[in-house]
Amino acid sequence: MNKYIIQGGNKLNGEVNISGFKNAILAIIPATLLAKDKCRIENVPLIKDVYILVEMMKELGAEVYLDEKNNAIDIDTSMIVECTASYDIAKALRASYYLVGAGLGRFKEAHVAYPGGCDIGSRPIDQHIKGFEALGSNVEIEHGIINCKADELVGTKIYMDVISVGATINVMLSAVMAKDKTIIENAAKEPHIVDTANFLNAMGADVRGAGTDVIRINGVDKLHGCTYSVIPDQIEAGTYIVAAAATEGNVLVKNVIPKHLESITAKLKELGVEIIENDDSIRVIGKPNLKKVNIKTLPYPGFPTDLQQPISVLLTKAEGISVVTESIFEGRFKYVDELKRMGANIKVDGRSAIIRGATPLSGTKIMATDLRAGAACIIAGLIADGETEVYNIEHVERGYERIEEKLKGLGVDIKRVTE
Ligand code: UD1
Repeated sequence: MNKYIIQGGNKLNGEVNISGFKNAILAIIPATLLAKDKCRIENVPLIKDVYILVEMMKELGAEVYLDEKNNAIDIDTSMIVECTASYDIAKALRASYYLVGAGLGRFKEAHVAYPGGCDIGSRPIDQHIKGFEALGSNVEIEHGIINCKADELVGTKIYMDVISVGATINVMLSAVMAKDKTIIENAAKEPHIVDTANFLNAMGADVRGAGTDVIRINGVDKLHGCTYSVIPDQIEAGTYIVAAAATEGNVLVKNVIPKHLESITAKLKELGVEIIENDDSIRVIGKPNLKKVNIKTLPYPGFPTDLQQPISVLLTKAEGISVVTESIFEGRFKYVDELKRMGANIKVDGRSAIIRGATPLSGTKIMATDLRAGAACIIAGLIADGETEVYNIEHVERGYERIEEKLKGLGVDIKRVTE
């Protein structure tokens, strides 16, 4: 078992470079399946989820070279003859469900085990299935496998009943080589939807309107390989921004798209943190005596659910009562019990966490219950008095590239220990 040991109390200072967006690369790698050709993807974050997805692509028959020195991947999917991913392959990663959309797009048939991923509440895929069926695929779930098969896929109008990132991307993947035009209404607008659409267009697809709630896709017969660079990770950036603010540090967060971070930087300004936005970097200057704020997670451009846990740690330092409402995933408050053991005064009431501050935290042994909860545990360790041991860090390493090294570079006393 691995853990991080953090000595609290150091202010973060210096510069940190943000990696490519985890949630974008997890869609783009399966999307290469559509091309039957070679693609080179750059600005790839070297995180565990990417290594798992690379193995999945190899098992499907792709030739993959992970160029770690240059954070790039070369993928040749021309040898793949069918899209079948067993539970052993698919279980480790929620994003394995993008193989369904991509496989259906290329082969008009896919058989992929129902996905795993973070345990943050029920995560249905009814909207994905609704989209595949609307395009003309038969969909059956048997023995935990999603089986899709179509004689042909034909574009149509699909209205998403809930705003879903995964369903929007999956339907895009299956529709780019469908006949005629597909229109996705009530589509998610997250930056990685736009990035995936841009990647598909670089392969020769005709996807318009990504980033708005109506996406129009004109089907094409064939896609080709391309070279593409992934956008920066807004959630990783937000995590370092919150960490800098929590420790009252002074950090330049580099290689970001400030527009993607507006919901976060706006909240931090409201709290009393100084934020300076440049073209592709953000300087965070932490301040004492933070003011309470209320936060509600929402689909983009609202406040991201993936930063709900990290920012709640910061709110333990704000004077007064802050209310954090989680409107996307009901199971995302499991980390609260860990924070309470460190001295936080938080009460969970249904979908809201009521945080009474300011309360000092004291170091102890805590458990990362999922990826972003793990980030919250680390931030808690940074501001706690004394030593914090964070267990279950496998979750953290799924989604944060070289987090220990990046934090050390900012002056944090953190050690990764294998027991
Ligand atoms: C993606 C992100 C995840 C982020 C989440 C919300 C990736 C790999 N993961 O997850 O980091 O936290 O978006 O921004 O990109 N829903 C349905 N039916 C469906 C699909 C979703 O009811 O068919 C519901 C979900 O239960 C949830 C909401 O829609 O309440 C949003 O989920 P969705 O946007 O699909 O999240 P993911 O794509 O799983």
